[in-house]
Amino acid sequence: MKPPIILINYKAYENSYGEKAIEISKKIEKISKNYGIPIIISVPATMIYKLSQEVELIIYAQHVDSVRHGAHTGSILPEMIKDSGAKGSLLNHSEKKIRLDEIHEALTRMKNLGLESVVCIDSYELVHPLALLKPDAILIEPPELIGSGRAVSKERPEVITKAVDEVKKVPGVYLLAGAGITTGEDVYKAIQLGADGIGVASAVMKAENPEKVVEDFVANAIKAIDKRQ
Ligand code: G3P
Repeated sequence: MKPPIILINYKAYENSYGEKAIEISKKIEKISKNYGIPIIISVPATMIYKLSQEVELIIYAQHVDSVRHGAHTGSILPEMIKDSGAKGSLLNHSEKKIRLDEIHEALTRMKNLGLESVVCIDSYELVHPLALLKPDAILIEPPELIGSGRAVSKERPEVITKAVDEVKKVPGVYLLAGAGITTGEDVYKAIQLGADGIGVASAVMKAENPEKVVEDFVANAIKAIDKRQ
């Protein structure tokens, strides 16, 4: 079975850093190990090193800058996240947009460093042009549904099916769907519609029992992938 891709974006929620981030990451790690499914956590840059020491999860940054070494105060370079223990990064999240030339430059640098990349986009029309830049995956998220509790797979299923058609034109690029994913059923539906996995934030980071939520997501993702094969 090709495992489903589950990406949990910690954003800047209260539990995205410090002891609380370690605690939630350990809970996610437990599910990942129990089900034998790798889970990606996309964490604040300040937490990459610490979490890479604490848990066996795939750790991503949430953003990298495409500038090169030099006088760039405040910049986070691909080289820096790699050195801290990240395996990859999100790029161009709706909440951290960058220009197309910056996406291209960052992707080239990340590839040269052996880092994985997930490029976020907000409409399916952008899937093909961005897939041609050969990120590892594209994460499609209609911005109006982000953090809404209304799942893309239920509210705008056509966004996923059209994105899947577009991504197929470029072999080797995965398609993830996100925005408003709340229940295991949302995850199941996204994968049934053709996505290789999902991106999620609030449903996990704001949950009273994140372990239960992630377990439900993983179990449904596996069920959906099994059914597809
Ligand atoms: O990167 C994933 C994220 O933008 C989705 O957010 O809160 O709708 O799951 P949320």
